[in-house]
Amino acid sequence: MKKKIAVCMAGILAVSVLMSCGSQVGERGAESITDVTNENADAPDQVDAGAETEAEDSDDAEASEGDAQDAEAENDEEEVVILKDGVEKQLGCFVGTAITSQELGDTKIWALITTHFNAITLGNELKPDCMFGYSNGRCKGTEEADLNGETIVVPKLDYSKSEKILDRIVKWNNENPDNVIKVRGHVLVWHAQTPEWFFHEDYDKTKDYVDTETMNKRLEWYIKTMLTHYTGEDSKYKDLFYGWDVVNEAVSDATGTYRSDSENSEEPLTNDTHNNNSSWWHVYQSNEYIINAFTYANKYAPADLELYYNDYNECMLNKQKGIIELLKAVKEKEGAPGEGTRIDAMGMQGHYQMSSPSMVDFENAIRAYAAVIGNVQITEMDMKSSDNYDGSAEAKEREFTRQAERYNTLYWVMKTLNQEDDINITGLTFWGTVDHYSWLQSRSDVGGGNKEGLPECPLLFDEMYLPKPAFYVFAGE
Ligand code: GLA
Repeated sequence: MKKKIAVCMAGILAVSVLMSCGSQVGERGAESITDVTNENADAPDQVDAGAETEAEDSDDAEASEGDAQDAEAENDEEEVVILKDGVEKQLGCFVGTAITSQELGDTKIWALITTHFNAITLGNELKPDCMFGYSNGRCKGTEEADLNGETIVVPKLDYSKSEKILDRIVKWNNENPDNVIKVRGHVLVWHAQTPEWFFHEDYDKTKDYVDTETMNKRLEWYIKTMLTHYTGEDSKYKDLFYGWDVVNEAVSDATGTYRSDSENSEEPLTNDTHNNNSSWWHVYQSNEYIINAFTYANKYAPADLELYYNDYNECMLNKQKGIIELLKAVKEKEGAPGEGTRIDAMGMQGHYQMSSPSMVDFENAIRAYAAVIGNVQITEMDMKSSDNYDGSAEAKEREFTRQAERYNTLYWVMKTLNQEDDINITGLTFWGTVDHYSWLQSRSDVGGGNKEGLPECPLLFDEMYLPKPAFYVFAGE
């Protein structure tokens, strides 16, 4: 059943000029879906604007004359499909967004999220630095915990920030049982946003690094405690989470294998947290912590909680090679809970640029990950602006249109690949809802694309909370 919401007509008009993907296709083998001669594939420009018209047509056919008159009277409103309805219909999966504590107080954001999305990832609040109370320089305090019958000393956890968001979602779900929102846990093991002291004797970064035996206990305790608290039988959040990113970004951008402790020589390993270098690697000097993380997650997670590996730059060939190596290593150790690993999908973060990845690289990456794991999710999608985008009113309209074209092309690849038997795209999440809260507004130096300091407009809703042309790419039926 469609709902009526006020929309910006410019969005629909802009989408109607979406270009065909044909001109962007490179040389490909016959099996490639980016070969435009493939008969199974709908050309991307037939998907959105056409779908909008088709949806309206079919509604018109069903509508009574009285309804039609009512609709005419409401000429300041436009009937549109809801984003999650469109994604469910076209891609057959949930559509998620990320939210941080800062956005929770913005009622307009909440209204957009609860109308258009059926999944949420907490942007920061379930990461280790937040769980340790943002005590990045010095551990705030310790306590004793039981692990496999042994008493160990562990840092105190702070559940408050995550629970503020989760409680709001639970309340929403209780009051709206037909419109529930599920949550992605993000993230248990990451070289970044994890305080350096976690890897040292007595949780004091001025002391030596601990050995792998001690680190394994810390790792198992952390994963056990997090999963039990948020997904266990007695948790007030039981059944709220659909999956959890067990390990994030453990592959090097440069070397085609695992991320090490010396990715960036300018970044001291003694920093409070890291951007590039991994203290996980420093302690283990191998992928053992990754295998162990998936083993512990499998031991403590409910059977229906999916477990993921998640990474960025995932369409770059060299990085892809390293990710495949990691996925295979985790997969090889699969076993029953308590006896081996479990991995249910590859999370492709999807922080993309207007010119990269190419359609071919995007297709090949999905194929490559699906060949190892089967299930693939796009987990943090956003789009950096064009290099020359200056944010002026005139440039904005053009940029929004170009962005919709770009999203449309990528979405077409996803939808087409998803029709193949051995490829399942089981989730699509955007890294935020409205442009002005995007991390790219303050970190536009990250990952190429637009130049530092220039405006970004990476998401589906603009600063007026109105749907952009890109919204209609995904919301169309
Ligand atoms: C990575 C992380 C996310 C987030 C984004 C940028 O992709 O996985 O948690 O930090 O960077 O905001």
